[in-house]
Amino acid sequence: MRYIILIFIAFLLLPSCQTEKKADVQENIQKARSLVKEFGGTLKPILVSHFKNDGPVAAIDVCSKSAPEIAQNLSKKSGWDIKRVSQKPRNLKTGTADAWELKVLQSFIAAQQAGADVDTLEHYEVLTLEDGSRVFRYMKPQKTLKLCTACHGTSIDPAISTKLDALYPGDRARGFSVGDVRGAFSLKRKL
Ligand code: HEC
Repeated sequence: MRYIILIFIAFLLLPSCQTEKKADVQENIQKARSLVKEFGGTLKPILVSHFKNDGPVAAIDVCSKSAPEIAQNLSKKSGWDIKRVSQKPRNLKTGTADAWELKVLQSFIAAQQAGADVDTLEHYEVLTLEDGSRVFRYMKPQKTLKLCTACHGTSIDPAISTKLDALYPGDRARGFSVGDVRGAFSLKRKL
């Protein structure tokens, strides 16, 4: 009889655990989305204003200094691990995608090639690591805009490419066209 009661209680608890998990995931998705908005919303205006006022060569410094700073500050403030990665990185140290990120980036590229607008895409997953701990991972692709092609496009002004060559040996982040997946915001949080 005791077992029957225990089983009964377990059944009663099961759905509530599941809804709690779902709510937990939903909360993380919302938080990840708002962090991405904050990251992009801080970086892009700085980039655009430097680009307009000081020109693209000077604006390279915004990307190489401000972008990592914003990511670091946001990570510290939120407790999430926040970065930008790419299938073709410029900063090989910080921008190289891991195996999971690469798989997700490839799915974004496949969706874009099938006609999807990159801005509508995102991906999240709860992963169980080898030690049994769980992490929530979220990625949102960054679409190549006209502005981006000055430094990531197919024909880059020699003044820009000379500076890029000097700062980023092995730079792979060129040859992108408007609408392409340039890379993605990648966020991670231990559950
Ligand atoms: C003025 C030149 C310049 C412009 C314009 C520019 N970028 Fe970059 N981008 C860079 C540099 C330099 C880096 C390397 C930053 C670093 O060292 O972390 C970079 C890095 C990145 C990364 C990180 C991954 C990697 O490749 O290292 C992404 C993603 C990215 N840019 C996307 C964009 C998008 C999207 C736009 C347009 C909205 C854009 N960039 C416009 C110069 C530029």
